Amino acid sequence: MVEKIFILGSTGFIGSELAKYFAEKGYSLILHGRNREKLVKIARSLNLQESVCLVSRSIASDLDIDNIIYQLSKCTDSINVVISALGIWDDSAPNRLDYSRWIESINSNLIAPIQTIIKLYDLLSYGGSVIVLSCLSGVRGYRIYKGLNPSIPYVASKAGVVAVTRQLAEYMAPKNVRVITIAPSWIEKDTLDPDLYRNIIDTVPLKRPGKVVELARFIDLLISSDIDYVSGAVIEFSGGL
Ligand SMILES: NC(=O)c1ccc[n+]([C@@H]2O[C@H](COP(=O)([O-])OP(=O)(O)OC[C@H]3O[C@@H](n4cnc5c(N)ncnc54)[C@H](OP(=O)(O)O)[C@@H]3O)[C@@H](O)[C@H]2O)c1
Repeated sequence: MVEKIFILGSTGFIGSELAKYFAEKGYSLILHGRNREKLVKIARSLNLQESVCLVSRSIASDLDIDNIIYQLSKCTDSINVVISALGIWDDSAPNRLDYSRWIESINSNLIAPIQTIIKLYDLLSYGGSVIVLSCLSGVRGYRIYKGLNPSIPYVASKAGVVAVTRQLAEYMAPKNVRVITIAPSWIEKDTLDPDLYRNIIDTVPLKRPGKVVELARFIDLLISSDIDYVSGAVIEFSGGL
């Protein structure tokens, strides 16, 4: 049984839904978000306030990560699972990009999650697992979403996560920690406009976006000890797109 799950980016759309799912399943959670107020609100909504450990910090340097690890070490001496739901969306056209946007995308989508996970090595318990959310565009390229135009840094950062998955898995292997990247495509949310919904039906073989609860169930399966020979894998969560 997995005891402690650390969710990076728990204040986001997917991260907060994962927190809800795993809280309902009775897992012990440590939630990260960069905005403390948002994080407290999420924890309150989960009715976990008494037991949940909250870690808040924007990640843009080793110092930030060291601070996160310090906050973590105050509430636990080990974690079994890390899930990264960190990231930022970007669809800036090439001629609208500037250096700072490049850095923001590469940082939030690639450096922040991967460097944090690397630094969590000592806290991860033997036999644990690491799940990182990339994006299908990082596997298949920028044209994969009809009606969306992921930017060059967005695609590069998501492809970067895909590229380092196996290397990270090898790094974690001495502790028998498995590393799996998930590359989701369309996920259902209230803000999906009707045109995009039509595009999904046109292009996705299963004729619908994935539900975030389906993603949570899939992650739940991947972190279970029944799947303990899967590591270094990049798995598409895409309805066949
Ligand atoms: N939603 C989708 O349809 C979809 C599809 C494919 C892939 N994905 C991937 O799945 C992941 C989660 O997506 P989402 O829709 O939940 O995104 P989201 O709602 O924008 O949430 C992203 C989370 O990351 C945090 N964050 C971003 N940059 C950070 C930084 N530098 N330091 C600390 N925290 C940072 C955000 O904090 P704040 O709350 O303070 O902003 C938030 O908690 C992303 O990697 C995304 O690319 C999503």
